[in-house]
Amino acid sequence: MIVLTNHEGGVGIDTTARDLAAGVGALDAVEAGVRMVEDDPSIRSVGYNSWPNILGQVELDAAVMDGATLRSGAIGGLIGFKNPVSVARAVMERLPHEILVGAGAARFASEIGAETAENLSEASRDTWQRGLKEWLSPRERQAFPDIALTALCQRATDPEYQKDTTVFLAIDGAGDMASAVSTSGWAWKYPGRLGDSPIIGAGSYADGAYGACACTHTGEMTIRAATSRSVVLYLKMGLTLEDALYEAGRDLKRLRGGLLRGVAIHAIDAKGAHRVASFGEAKGVEYWVWEDGMTHPERRVAIHLDV
Ligand code: GLY
Repeated sequence: MIVLTNHEGGVGIDTTARDLAAGVGALDAVEAGVRMVEDDPSIRSVGYNSWPNILGQVELDAAVMDGATLRSGAIGGLIGFKNPVSVARAVMERLPHEILVGAGAARFASEIGAETAENLSEASRDTWQRGLKEWLSPRERQAFPDIALTALCQRATDPEYQKDTTVFLAIDGAGDMASAVSTSGWAWKYPGRLGDSPIIGAGSYADGAYGACACTHTGEMTIRAATSRSVVLYLKMGLTLEDALYEAGRDLKRLRGGLLRGVAIHAIDAKGAHRVASFGEAKGVEYWVWEDGMTHPERRVAIHLDV
C-alpha cells in the first residue's frame, strides 16, 4: 500500500492512509483525501476559498482514474459545488462520458444531488476587487465586465504565483491503483480556461499494470507534453521510475515558451515505489508519502530537475 500526494495534500493524507490501512479501496481513499483538501479554506488553490477567474467566479477542475478498469471521470470549469472530485467520480460511474465542462458539469452536479457551495470567500473577493482597481483603466472600470479580457488577463498578477493542484496517487491492499486531482487553476484566469487537471493523460493517469502519475503547477506545460500518460508509457516500455520521470522532464524541457518553473511530477509504479521530481524551485518542492510500515505520513523533498 502507498499514498503519494503533493504539499497541499498534507491535510488529506492521514485520511487516505487510515482508509487504506482499514481495507478501503484505492479510489475511495484518494477521493476522501482530496475532499479534505477541497474543504480546507487555508489552501488557496483548491475548492472553497481558492482564487477566482478574472470575472470573480471560482471555476473548479477535477479528475479521478481507476487503474484497474482504466475508466476516468473529469469535470472542468465547475461553478457552485463543494467537492468537484466527487462530481468527477460520478461522471465516471454514472455517464458513458469521461469529461463534462461548464454549464453541463453544473447541471449534472445538480442532478446527482452534489452539495452546492459559494466557493468565492470574502477574502478572495476582496483581493480580486483590489486587483481590478489596479489592472483596469478608468474607462475599463466603467464598462467592466463588458470589456476585452485578453489583455487584462496578461496584466493581472497572480497573488501567490499559484497554478497549483492537489494530487493523490494510491495502491490499496488488494493491489488496485487510483489517482485523483482537484484545483481552481490559475488565479485570474480567462473564463473557461482548463488546466491539466481535468485532462486525463496530462494532469493525471493511472494504469494498475504499470503505474500512476499526476502533475502540479502550470498545466499549460503538462498538457503540451501529455506528461502523466508519458510517464506511465515510459514505465510500460521498461524504464525505471526515476528514468521515466527524467524522460518526461526532457519532454517538458523541449517545449518552447511557457512557464516550466514549479512544475512537479509525482509518480508511483506497480511495485509501490515512488518518485517526485520538480523544475526550478530553489528550496525544492515538498511532497507527502505514506507506505506500509510507516506510523505516520512523511514529508520529503522532490528530485530537482534543471530548467
Ligand atoms: N495544474 C493546475 C492547473 O494548471 O490548473
